[in-house]
Amino acid sequence: MDTVIVGASEVAHLSKSNENNGRIDGELMLNRDAHVTEDLAMHIKDGMIVKFSTNEEMKLEWGLPSGSNDNLNYIDVEGAAIIPGFVDAHTHLLWDGDRSNEMAMKLSGMSYRQISEQGLGIASTVSATQKASLNRLIEIGKSRLKRAHNLGTTTLEAKSGYGLDLETELRLLQASSSLENNGVSLHHTWLGAHAYPEQVDKNNWNRHLIDEQIPAIIDQGIASYVDVFCEPGWFSIETTDEICRASMQHGLDIRLHVDEFTDGGGLTLASELGAKTADHAGFSSDDARAKASNADVNTGFLPGTPYVHGDSFTTDLTRCIEEGWKWSLASDFNPNCRSLSIPFVGSLAVHRMRIPPIAALIAVTANAASTVNGKEGVGKLIEGGVADLNILRTNSADGWCLMPGDNPVKMTIHHSQL
Ligand code: NIG
Ligand code: FE
Repeated sequence: MDTVIVGASEVAHLSKSNENNGRIDGELMLNRDAHVTEDLAMHIKDGMIVKFSTNEEMKLEWGLPSGSNDNLNYIDVEGAAIIPGFVDAHTHLLWDGDRSNEMAMKLSGMSYRQISEQGLGIASTVSATQKASLNRLIEIGKSRLKRAHNLGTTTLEAKSGYGLDLETELRLLQASSSLENNGVSLHHTWLGAHAYPEQVDKNNWNRHLIDEQIPAIIDQGIASYVDVFCEPGWFSIETTDEICRASMQHGLDIRLHVDEFTDGGGLTLASELGAKTADHAGFSSDDARAKASNADVNTGFLPGTPYVHGDSFTTDLTRCIEEGWKWSLASDFNPNCRSLSIPFVGSLAVHRMRIPPIAALIAVTANAASTVNGKEGVGKLIEGGVADLNILRTNSADGWCLMPGDNPVKMTIHHSQL
């Protein structure tokens, strides 16, 4: 099927990169003119962008608007801006239960760590999730994916991690894989090492993860990535290293949770392991940030999490740009941070962390895409790439992150729908 889209006031194509795999880092993140074009119409065939031209040329070629017919999907966006679909490269998509009760504890001054030491936090989500059937998890996932899609997300990484036993971890991944074809491309991650079950011997549990869970996860064949919550008090550097190396031997790529509450050396380990991405990283040292970038390891910042903790944002994104470090942004959707809204993440980055909208857009599209093994052109709008895009409610491409609490996306298109 042919689709022709005309009438955009601006198209943020992000086609210029200064890194391998399409990344845009350093000064180039700030060069809006390099990334946004005013007069750009596109022809899409079977979900792939085949051609850009000016609006006038495109209309002439297709005899539009009068020549429009049933075989052509003709879309005039009437002055709206178009941007790539968002790539949310860090979510805990699937879990059951509700942790609203933790808000009162947070307000009384308890930290995330203290709440978890009371047997709540991850542990309470685990008990609810272990009771959830496969069908229930699929239904929960479908409704969340629909919300994410409506908010502009067209690629999403989904972690397991609320099973804490093999059977539930396999069920979570099974549910995750059943969610394909819902207008969002999915990437599945095994996060077996998310927390230790209560009263378990840690060494025994580490052996269980390596000797029993990894082979079963590989046998199941759904996860492409491994993740570990590498943080003092959760999984140590040594154990994280061991779990990741065992997973790598089976072909899994590495994503990590590191240095969320303290600098535990997680980002440095991620560099040594050649991780695709190391996320949170709010307390990583500058040395570790530089080392990660030199090792081609992305750092994924997740500002929604300090936001819901009432904490300040420890990361200086302007500095990250000035230093040319490799970084991205994601939602960290989870029972503690229940927002699937990438536009909200963009608002935090722009209104609170004070970077320009174009830099924040790159961080949730092209740069996030470099951490997942997706199709050609994901996170960009380029000829020969997939047509994953958002038509905004605003005339400026910058509007994508300037409507906090509202949805700036009028229409999301995933290539599978064309
Ligand atoms: O990335 N920090 C580790 N895991 C999640 C939160 C898990 C939870 O609180 O349920 C995160 O923020
Ligand atoms: Fe997370």
